Amino acid sequence: MAYFNHPLLTSGVVAALIIVSASILYSKYKKWKTPVHGIPLVPGAHWLLGSVNFFLSSHDGTIKSLKTLGEVFCIFVPLGPVGVVGTTTEFIDAFKDRMLVTMSRTTQLTFSQFFKNGLIALEGEQWKKHVRVLGPMMSVSSLKQAVSSMVRAVDGLTLKWKTEVDPDKPLNVEGDIKNLALSIICDFLIGRDLSSAGGSCAHELTQHCEVLLTAVDKEVYENPLYKMIFGDRPPVRRARKYLWGLMQEVMSECREHPEKAERHAVGRIMAAVKAEAVTFTDQELLDEIVMMLFGGSDTTAVSLMWAFKALSAAPHVQSKLRSEIKEVLGPSPPTYDDVTQHMPYLDICFKEIMRVARTAPGCGRTLLTDYQLKGDTKAIVPKGATMMLGISGIHMNPRYWVDPELFWPERWEEGVGKGQGAMGLPITPAAWAPFGAGHRGCFGQRMATVEMKVLLVQLLRSFEFSPSGDPELDNWDMVERITTRPKNPYFKLRPLG
Ligand code: HEM
Repeated sequence: MAYFNHPLLTSGVVAALIIVSASILYSKYKKWKTPVHGIPLVPGAHWLLGSVNFFLSSHDGTIKSLKTLGEVFCIFVPLGPVGVVGTTTEFIDAFKDRMLVTMSRTTQLTFSQFFKNGLIALEGEQWKKHVRVLGPMMSVSSLKQAVSSMVRAVDGLTLKWKTEVDPDKPLNVEGDIKNLALSIICDFLIGRDLSSAGGSCAHELTQHCEVLLTAVDKEVYENPLYKMIFGDRPPVRRARKYLWGLMQEVMSECREHPEKAERHAVGRIMAAVKAEAVTFTDQELLDEIVMMLFGGSDTTAVSLMWAFKALSAAPHVQSKLRSEIKEVLGPSPPTYDDVTQHMPYLDICFKEIMRVARTAPGCGRTLLTDYQLKGDTKAIVPKGATMMLGISGIHMNPRYWVDPELFWPERWEEGVGKGQGAMGLPITPAAWAPFGAGHRGCFGQRMATVEMKVLLVQLLRSFEFSPSGDPELDNWDMVERITTRPKNPYFKLRPLG
């Protein structure tokens, strides 16, 4: 035993352990940073930091790589295993195979810092439990109810714009549109109507939500290590505390008045937890609400701004939409059934808007087993690698879309002389994935669809949207953050009627 106490031997063992661990780590890291055989690597990949340039400009990066490298290419995921980006329907199909893929570990790691129990950060049984109790908030009855609150909120904005906006001057719509989307999601989630409540509660809630949402965006993009090392900054702590207090209030209201529980998502979740007889802590509920606040407001606001970009440059599409609105709705506000069943032109405009919008240029999954690509290379992507769906690339892939850059809703129409896919073939709706794909695709897709349609209907019947007239502003330049938004969301708004 005395041998083990010898100082030289102890230091030797420690040194050997360090060397072995370092070489294991190095070999694992090297494996992570080896492109998949047969698939080209996007230039500029850094062995330690990954394909940073690609991630900072995913939309342009995907489109450029599609043109120069082909439909499938490799990237290095920062601090993660090699990634394979695909811009074909094969990748959409792969995302739909639950035995093949799960949510990307990098995405989970990133978001779990902000909402540890939020859907996007969960896996396995825990994810399934959350989906079960969150499900009722996306039911038809819940969304039907949400439509009147959406109409109320957008009518508030319409009134503001009608009284304040100069039709001859371009308006930056970003702030107003973000507030609109936040107001809708707050009412939907916790029954607090920011648009009509007024007063300090609405103001405080808006401010705290903004602090939280900006922090997620800023820290993920600008300083990913800050949060890991130092935790929440003081304003974020205050925002969480405020929301926590508000949630406790909302939960007590639900317990005291169960009849009011159907008014918002928190109530529906509490009812589902009871019905399913599962354990669901207050912290789990809070994390989900913060996650939905984030996932459900910025995405919709940004998509709406892309919608204005497309529509302002297409006055003929606006006129056709207004005709349909007049014919189907007359002077009445839209209902859930109107926008989901009776407005076919609105539906194809929505699809085309989401195709050209850059909101979410891509999303990732971790491979659960080795996967052999079906293309020419038959390359084998190893288990553990990140499969990335290059959403922008699929939407701009000339294999599926004739003149992919063109905003042309009629391409979705069926019949001779109507819209068509590329090379004279019928359109491929399966090449449309703005909400991701498969079981880990967007949980809020149904709400987002209804919301975008309701807002478009109400705004288009009140205003004609046109470009600002300044070429510096009337382009599709982007700011890439967690969502990719227009850099210059300036438009002229001419009041109608
Ligand atoms: C136009 C609006 C929206 C777009 C473009 C959008 C897009 C997406 C995309 C692409 C994903 C997949 C992310 C990934 O795979 O890494 C996603 C996930 C998600 N979205 Fe949305 N989204 C929108 C609106 C909403 C709304 C309104 C909500 C909720 C109220 C929501 C909640 C979520 C959640 C919870 C997830 C994670 C699902 C999971 O991990 O199982 N989203 N969204």
